Amino acid sequence: MNYKNNNFYIEKIKADNLIKKYGSPIYCYSNKRLVDNIINFKNSFKSFNPLICFSVKSNYNSTILRIIKQHGLGADVVSDGELKKVLSLGFKPNRIVYSGVGKKFEELKFAISKNILLINVESESELKNIKKIAEKFGKKVSVGLRLNPNIDAKTNTKISTGRIQDKFGLNGNDIIKILNKFKNSRNIKIKCLSVHIGSQITQNKPYNNVLVAINKILSKSKYKFEYIDLGGGMGISYVKNNKKLDYSKLSKNIYKFSKKNNCKIIFEPGRSIVGNTAVLLTKVIYIKNSSNKKFIIIDAGMNDLIRPALYNAAHDIIPLIKKTSKNSCSHDFVGPICETSDRFLKTKNFQKIYEGDNLAIKDVGAYGIVLSSNYNLRPRPIEIIIKNSKIKKISKKQRLNDII
Ligand code: LLP
Repeated sequence: MNYKNNNFYIEKIKADNLIKKYGSPIYCYSNKRLVDNIINFKNSFKSFNPLICFSVKSNYNSTILRIIKQHGLGADVVSDGELKKVLSLGFKPNRIVYSGVGKKFEELKFAISKNILLINVESESELKNIKKIAEKFGKKVSVGLRLNPNIDAKTNTKISTGRIQDKFGLNGNDIIKILNKFKNSRNIKIKCLSVHIGSQITQNKPYNNVLVAINKILSKSKYKFEYIDLGGGMGISYVKNNKKLDYSKLSKNIYKFSKKNNCKIIFEPGRSIVGNTAVLLTKVIYIKNSSNKKFIIIDAGMNDLIRPALYNAAHDIIPLIKKTSKNSCSHDFVGPICETSDRFLKTKNFQKIYEGDNLAIKDVGAYGIVLSSNYNLRPRPIEIIIKNSKIKKISKKQRLNDII
């Protein structure tokens, strides 16, 4: 995804032409970016060859999931729907982990019937339900215990999951209690200690702190876990000068940890695999001058991409056709939805912009389309993927009449 002769291209396709052909707003993915991300992720950690379970919540488009599966990744799911989807796409049960604080009895029953690799348990009550089902089926079910290590991931508070005030996981003392109570159970095999402290993490320190916390549990409990599941959370660069994770240092540390504890590592990355693989193409509907600024009203709204409204997330916006002329006043890119929070980037020094211009909102591959809605009774955008010069529609257009 880059400019050539001032035109923004997704692989070999001029993005401006896509809006002419398909309308807007529209999610557009690059096949190459996705494949590159998968390969880079694998290479970063090849010294200890982790099981990489893609976090399906970040993007569950079937075509995207198929590509991910073809490259050997497993899946991290959080609902019956996600589990059924990945099974239907041919993901192997022994490469699927299931997380979530509120798995219902029926959902657990289904997961157990499919013999997935691990159910990562977040409360003792959940474990008791699993035991009941396992007894009924006469099975031994493999589970992980999710640790809440009380570590601040230094990310947006709304996507932090590893502090004691967050609803996720079990504290260290409860993990030890549960181990003592269930370690000799006939129907439960505790194979894994799992942890996920948050998303869009851009510093190594929180991960290092997690390893220290896990080491403490391991030496206190003297329990031998076959797997340590370190979750996902690896951040990406949304705007210039974003802090970046140092993968090489992270990898070295985890390698040492896995050698010392003789365990297999699992990761559950979502954003780092799909985040930068898509742009949301959009058109300027109106430009409204207001005292010292311009409101640029675009046809993508918070129903199409909610991250800025929900988390104050910054997504860069770029023109599909680059010009040299600049306008130095402040530009507020806003959507058409009847909510003040329906706003995207605020920036100065954008190029001279006109009604009818086409733009791209960047890095929307993770938590983009999956969080979209029909709010204001607007159809969801379609998705397309580009591979070289081939364009493929990868989701159905919602017809307005159907949703009406
Ligand atoms: N594993 C577990 C148990 C998780 O809860 C999550 C994300 C992941 C893995 C994947 O994390 P990632 O590698 O994508 O950071 N909607 C928010 C993000 C919510 C993340 C929820 N859990 C956003 O748009 O930023």
